[in-house]
Amino acid sequence: MNRICLICQNVDCKNRGSEELMKELSKRVADKSLTDVEVRPYMCFGACQEGPNIVLYPEKSWYAEVKMEDLNDIVDHLCGGPDVKRLDKIDPSLKDLIYQLLDTGVF
Ligand code: FES
Repeated sequence: MNRICLICQNVDCKNRGSEELMKELSKRVADKSLTDVEVRPYMCFGACQEGPNIVLYPEKSWYAEVKMEDLNDIVDHLCGGPDVKRLDKIDPSLKDLIYQLLDTGVF
């Protein structure tokens, strides 16, 4: 199964730069030839005050308050490196809810 990198593109995350993050992450994924990784927009994860939010699936890593300078570590993770623990800030119950939705195929 392909890995999917979902980047929220709703208003709050967008106001904090998620559109630019999505463009840059797409570029870096292509530069690294990560052909099994798909970067996709997402409608809203419900953690709007903690955006920009990026969720890696099926790994189920949720990165919050992501900034351009965090992308290196996120790309490293996509290349097999460790989770970026400092960006793991979301309440576990919200994570579970969103992961359940994703497990049912709702993208
Ligand atoms: S606006 Fe991004 S999580 Fe809601």
